[in-house]
Amino acid sequence: MKKTVGAVVAVLLLVAAAGWWQGRQEDNRPRQTTQAAPMVAVAVPELTGLARQGADVFEGNCAGCHGANGAGNEGYGPPLVHPIYRPNHHADGSFFVAVQNGVRAHHWTFGDMPPVAGLSQSDVSKIVTYIRELQRRNGVF
Ligand code: HEC
Repeated sequence: MKKTVGAVVAVLLLVAAAGWWQGRQEDNRPRQTTQAAPMVAVAVPELTGLARQGADVFEGNCAGCHGANGAGNEGYGPPLVHPIYRPNHHADGSFFVAVQNGVRAHHWTFGDMPPVAGLSQSDVSKIVTYIRELQRRNGVF
């Protein structure tokens, strides 16, 4: 009898552990995606040359989470063309820090942003130019 109870408890523990592990895997799944579910409408202006280069870098490194044109991607990452990220609330420096160190979730519930490797200061500076041009066109500042 004791043995049966022990076995049942062991099985229950195993099931619980498997569930926990699966949940963990779910949370840690790579959030880079090509699926696009924009969260805000973004009008794209005539971009300057630097911003166009920034758009390319953004597309390859950020858009999976932040959406095409920084419009956000439901379930993955927030829009950057958004009042929260206007220059006097998130200055240009916050982009460099975000890319270098990642971001701990604090404004949204998408989870943390991991650091993004392989970008130069100049790449990030072009991304900032791009995002600011989009923000200005869309009345963020
Ligand atoms: C894996 C998904 C992911 C990728 C890839 C990603 N981000 Fe993020 N990023 C996030 C999330 C999620 C947040 C919001 C965290 C919060 O405040 O809750 C965020 C926040 C930010 C912020 C705000 C920082 C702050 O101080 O609050 C900036 C700026 C930013 N990202 C820029 C970028 C740039 C530039 C790239 C590409 C080089 C990039 N992100 C790639 C998920 C991502």
